[in-house]
Amino acid sequence: MTSNDQTKERACDDTTCTEDCATCPSAHKQSASKGLPPKAMIVVRHVILVLSGKGGVGKSTVSVNLAFALANRGMNVGLLDLDFHGPNIPKMLGIEKQRPALLSHAIEPIHVTENLAVMSMGFLLPDTSTPVVWRGPMKMGAIRQFLTDVNWGSLDYLVVDLPPGTGDEALTIAQIAPNVKGAVIVTTPQEVAVMDAIKAAKFIEQLDIPVLGVVENMSGMICPHCHEEIDLFSKGGGKKAAEDLGVPYLGGIPLDPEMVKAGDEGKPFILQHKDSPTGKAVDAVMENLIHLVES
Ligand SMILES: Nc1ncnc2c1ncn2[C@@H]1O[C@H](COP(=O)(O)OP(=O)(O)O)[C@@H](O)[C@H]1O
Ligand SMILES: [Mg+2]
Ligand SMILES: [Zn+2]
Repeated sequence: MTSNDQTKERACDDTTCTEDCATCPSAHKQSASKGLPPKAMIVVRHVILVLSGKGGVGKSTVSVNLAFALANRGMNVGLLDLDFHGPNIPKMLGIEKQRPALLSHAIEPIHVTENLAVMSMGFLLPDTSTPVVWRGPMKMGAIRQFLTDVNWGSLDYLVVDLPPGTGDEALTIAQIAPNVKGAVIVTTPQEVAVMDAIKAAKFIEQLDIPVLGVVENMSGMICPHCHEEIDLFSKGGGKKAAEDLGVPYLGGIPLDPEMVKAGDEGKPFILQHKDSPTGKAVDAVMENLIHLVES
């Protein structure tokens, strides 16, 4: 069954409906037009989706570093982890033991800094090794709740970390989130990854969402001994994908053992290694992206 079929099967066309039906994208409009109090949709200037064709290419890493780059520039930022089957953001930020407070009508996200709040399915699951069976409509309901029931405050940016590929999560957030500015496609340089990245980009374009640009992650490698760059997996695949798609190339981030360490230790890379070659590369990518979005 495709996501579209599921949407049809469950879509709510009852015009008196005031519930936030998981699969009814127009529920809020309906209740608003009838003068009933709608459940408040997140207030955000720009929603940015982080997507890839393949897993393990660095989406969550890019999402975390983008969120911190934005927060460091004084923006109010939300980071939403929509990888239901592998919610890694809490671990990458060292907050996997924390649990959001459930207030009477809202969920309080985890504040990692004064202006950066995080929400992840990982917080709501009993433990990180529990696999969860999620059917499409359940995911849609959870995603809607993340947008309506979380006490985000007024955000400049919501960075959304997605699972790989073109599934329900990307489709749902693209359909129901307000002010979706576009998607960042993360790929590694290898041709197989690039092929899937192009597929993911085309899927995004089909949803009428702009592709903001392509990031090539694991682009070359920084030697842990001499800190020089080694051309390990070749380079240039991301740039070529961007050219083929006619979208901006946002830059490359080398493979750096410090990055693995940062992820495993729950300390955002960008905060610790600003002046290393990789830190500068990460910063340049984020700068390009922010410039694009703000201009
Ligand atoms: N540039 C990089 N250099 C070294 N390790 C990286 C880099 N980018 C990501 N990683 C590591 O690779 C693994 C997968 O990255 P992750 O961001 O979880 O990918 P995805 O979200 O696409 O599945 C993580 O352990 C992460 O720390
Ligand atoms: Mg991930
Ligand atoms: Zn070396």
